[in-house]
Amino acid sequence: MLKRTYTCGQLRLSDAGKKVTLAGWVRSYRDHGNLVFIDLRDREGLTQLVFNPESQPQIHKVARTLRCEWVIAAKGTVQPRSEGMENPKLPTGQIEVSVEQLEILNVSKTPPFEIDSADKTNEELRLASRYIDLRRPEMQRKLHIRHRATKIVRDYFDRLSFWEVETPMLAKSTPEGARDFLVPSRLHKNCFYALPQSPQLFKQILMISGVDKYFQIVRCFRDEDPRADRQAEFTQIDVEMSFVDSNDVIGVHENLIAKIWKQILNVDVTAPMPRMTYKDAMANYGTDRPDLRFDMRLKDISDIAKQSTFRVFTSTLEKGGVVKGLCAPSEKYSRSDIEKTLTNFVADYGAKGLAWTKVRPSSDVHRPTSHEGRGTRDMELSGGSAKFFSPELQRQIVERFEAENDDMLLFVADKEQIANKALAPLRCKLAKDLRLYDEKNFEFVWVVGFPLFEWNEDEKRYDSLHHPFTAPVQEDLDKLETDPANVCSQAYDIVVNGCEIGGGSIRIHDPKVQRKIFDLLNISKQQAQQQFGFFLRALEYGAPPHGGIAIGLDRLIMMLTGTDNIRDVIAFPKTQRGQCLLTDAPSEVDAKQLEDLNLRTQKHLRAIEQKSNEEK
Ligand code: AMO
Ligand code: AMP
Repeated sequence: MLKRTYTCGQLRLSDAGKKVTLAGWVRSYRDHGNLVFIDLRDREGLTQLVFNPESQPQIHKVARTLRCEWVIAAKGTVQPRSEGMENPKLPTGQIEVSVEQLEILNVSKTPPFEIDSADKTNEELRLASRYIDLRRPEMQRKLHIRHRATKIVRDYFDRLSFWEVETPMLAKSTPEGARDFLVPSRLHKNCFYALPQSPQLFKQILMISGVDKYFQIVRCFRDEDPRADRQAEFTQIDVEMSFVDSNDVIGVHENLIAKIWKQILNVDVTAPMPRMTYKDAMANYGTDRPDLRFDMRLKDISDIAKQSTFRVFTSTLEKGGVVKGLCAPSEKYSRSDIEKTLTNFVADYGAKGLAWTKVRPSSDVHRPTSHEGRGTRDMELSGGSAKFFSPELQRQIVERFEAENDDMLLFVADKEQIANKALAPLRCKLAKDLRLYDEKNFEFVWVVGFPLFEWNEDEKRYDSLHHPFTAPVQEDLDKLETDPANVCSQAYDIVVNGCEIGGGSIRIHDPKVQRKIFDLLNISKQQAQQQFGFFLRALEYGAPPHGGIAIGLDRLIMMLTGTDNIRDVIAFPKTQRGQCLLTDAPSEVDAKQLEDLNLRTQKHLRAIEQKSNEEK
């Protein structure tokens, strides 16, 4: 067998004259009658092979039989391409290899889709033949970036004396708030392991064990519906540290992010990164993961709307709701775009409507003009709900939004939560439609000052906003008894371009506080014992103050590679319906396997029932 001496991405003009052997896949094939050209592909790139009928008649003949995706090795001489045939887009575009020896290592069926136009191919087809899909240079680039990023992570933490410790995959349910994947135990009938939603309790126990600084690049499992940025099986860069406060954890991770961005994208990320309180994020952006590449803040105009004659607004306010809105250039939107497209868009997030109006220069010649010149004061509202607002109220609205001529104002009147839920994605959609930002920019922000709890109206109890091991700020300990809704936590999330790439907190290390939190969450002593008894016991044996974070590796790689599809950064992902189309998982199993596990499926039971009926 010919042994390769160079990769397909390596040869340059300076290599001309060298005898080389390359191996790879036939990417394309051009038969010019006398000369045959093959683009040979491997992980590192493409090199043009040329087969000459005069100097190598035998090999030329074989070359004419080659087809796409066949695997070959070729030995030959590097030569400059003839004039006008250079390809400046290709690093190897100045040269070609004139082949003197050829070996067909394997043939291939015609691939189910064309590799070079795979991004236009149906994704299910690509996932079913992932081995073909992953041959694409773009997919290889993403795999490589993922490899490089994890390598930087490992080196970084190693240098800072963190230890990578593995934690069990067959574990007990931990409460990250999603549904567990369960694994039946054969040895313990009727018992199940849960696949970890995260190593949360193990990493805290490692702190109690004196490991001091832990990290792990770890798979987590959550039985949730997959989304564009969510998989049931995903990877975290999981970290825990002892004797630290939140600034320590934040600092370590800002520097890590800056290092990754510099080394992979050559982009300078400034640390310290900006911080924003949860309250400000919700008020100004309607979400705890604000995209800060553009401004366009939400404004609450409840105080102004209260004085209007617009029943839609006043009746919402009477019921304790709010009127919040956005201001954006109107250039791209007709009245019907607003009343149909944008209104339907917010309706998907629960808004009952989208009130609108536009901004134009005031027709009132007597109104004093602003001394600053630009004069938002010279503007008035026109169209849509403008008629419900007096000139003075219109002036106040224009001023609040700092609106300019030809802007449109869009409002949602509803419970604050719904108004935010609808306006936050609308803000992002408008900015994208209007190209208000550079897609290649990165705007990082730490969101801090989260409430410890959120009220669960359905269940009439508090839920943890993060998880029940998150510590309240010291000053609010008393409020746990008196005013739990206003207890602030020591949690932090890191957000980039509107994507939450990580979250963590300082933990509770006092078993008394931990029990109190379980009480507030309505987790009974018995339940707590059953679910986290092992952890509560561990807390009694000298738990150091500690805290940590988990960065979602998949999302981090999405940001680095500029994709909005999480499946693009995972070698073998699951579909939106949780299936692996390559292997066909999940699938039914043998009756025997079920029997070993003491399990019966519904189908199995029906079959047994039918059989016994037949026997009767
Ligand atoms: P959390 O649940 O916030 O925290 O998860 C941390 C980060 O993991 C990523 N992530 C996901 N990525 C892809 N698919 C999913 N289904 C998915 N779920 C989460 C996100 C998220 O920010 N144990 C805590 C961390 C801690 O407190 O230290 C935890 O898991 O980027
Ligand atoms: P209607 O009275 O339902 O015909 O609505 C009149 C206008 O107010 C329409 O443009 C609706 O989209 C808008 N609208 C209705 N409900 C709301 C709401 N809750 N928030 C904002 N606008 C609304």
